[in-house]
Amino acid sequence: MADEKLVKSRQRVADHGEVFTPRWLVDDMLDLVGDETERIDSRFLEPACGSGNFLVPILERKLAVVQRRYGKSAFEKRHYALFGLMCIYGIELLADNAIECRENLAGTFARVLKLEQSPGGHASQSLSERSETKRDPLLAAAEAVLASNIVQGDALAMTDAVGAPIVFPEWAYLGRGRYQRRDFRYDALTQRSAASGTLFDAFEEHEIFTPVRTYPVMTIEEIAA
Ligand SMILES: C[S@@+](CC[C@H](N)C(=O)[O-])C[C@H]1O[C@@H](n2cnc3c(N)ncnc32)[C@H](O)[C@@H]1O
Repeated sequence: MADEKLVKSRQRVADHGEVFTPRWLVDDMLDLVGDETERIDSRFLEPACGSGNFLVPILERKLAVVQRRYGKSAFEKRHYALFGLMCIYGIELLADNAIECRENLAGTFARVLKLEQSPGGHASQSLSERSETKRDPLLAAAEAVLASNIVQGDALAMTDAVGAPIVFPEWAYLGRGRYQRRDFRYDALTQRSAASGTLFDAFEEHEIFTPVRTYPVMTIEEIAA
């Protein structure tokens, strides 16, 4: 796009290597892993995610598949759309970028699914209609997911903004509107690939990788709350 801004300031480029990738290049790169981007449950982690130039198109591709596969059932569509979002992760050093990234993903989610975004309703509605308009809990759930999936932190040190180890939630969709969340330390997760081809291959995954927290099964409303 002609108006795409790929640099915020020279200082930020010098200090943090902050140069954003143009949409055409992102699309070309995602096409190389097209099958994965179109799997609702494929997990993507962008360890220097900026404002989401890769993560937003990945979400759009997942949501297009959700629409094709589950478009006829509002229940299934809403739940699989949230699950697609749950499989998207990012780490970003700078606070403003991390906030923008969450906002861009939430905005894309709301736009594609046509969710009510403001508690005030639309200007075209009468005052009484507007006061009755409720914010869609699916959007609140999406924002709660993004608050934990998009981490402000240092991907190299694997620590968050206050220096604690980065923890990511692993979400599973159990069907019938229920989700399971388990949290894992990022530094432990990165050992998965290191263990492959070693003695540890003989162990079951759960014997090596234990969650730091397991949550009760949750619905969209419970995640939103
Ligand atoms: C080259 S930009 C790419 C941004 C985005 N991936 C894109 O393609 O548009 C690199 C980003 O990584 C962030 N960054 C730099 N060092 C980082 C680190 N150690 N951990 C996490 N993010 C980092 C910068 O703030 C910047 O937003």
